[in-house]
Amino acid sequence: MATTDDVDRPGAQHWVPEGGDVDALRDAAPACRGCELWAPATQVVFSEGPAQAAVMLVGEQPGDKEDLAGEPFVGPAGRVLHEALAAAGLDPEQVYVTNAVKHFRFEQRGKRRIHKTPLVTHLRACVPWLEAEIAAVRPRVVVALGATAARGVLGRTVAVGTERGRVLDAGGRAVVVTAHPSSVLRLRERAEREAATAAIVDDLRVAAGAAAG
Ligand code: URA
Ligand code: SF4
Repeated sequence: MATTDDVDRPGAQHWVPEGGDVDALRDAAPACRGCELWAPATQVVFSEGPAQAAVMLVGEQPGDKEDLAGEPFVGPAGRVLHEALAAAGLDPEQVYVTNAVKHFRFEQRGKRRIHKTPLVTHLRACVPWLEAEIAAVRPRVVVALGATAARGVLGRTVAVGTERGRVLDAGGRAVVVTAHPSSVLRLRERAEREAATAAIVDDLRVAAGAAAG
């Protein structure tokens, strides 16, 4: 079995307008050919939220619903996220929401599209968009939702379990890591889901505190 693939991934940098504000980035993203994920996807899913925001949330990649809608976190994981934001006292309209990888990676099985976790090479290819967004939005705190996002934001592997819920530093920028909201959806028991959501809420409160302070 091959451990690497031979797909060409030049990375997004060539398509990212230098010094662009969020509107310029959004306008440029559909043309990106930084990796192969654009081809089978419906569209690029860039971001939602104000052009400048104190809190930036970073997910992994769009899912099936997001790919169709063209907006991040509109599916089941988004419901968990919005509930957690409200419980942490963060207004969903005031936060900037994006993903580490901007196209949906999936496997077609009959009529169904099954989510596939992006490879590290996809993350590396797409991360220039995220870096440009951070530079444009200038959030006081970046919240990484899950290990893939945390790797994109911090540029290293991150163990969410041990690093979540405190203020980390990424080149002078405050970063808080928490679990991905879809990890809540995979839990079978209601009590487990409630506890996992409460843990995300705790982490988001830490982020809200860092943004306010
Ligand atoms: N999961 C993510 O990481 N991002 C989305 O936009 C939706 C689900
Ligand atoms: Fe470009 Fe990212 Fe889409 Fe790949 S996933 S084509 S790097 S926007």
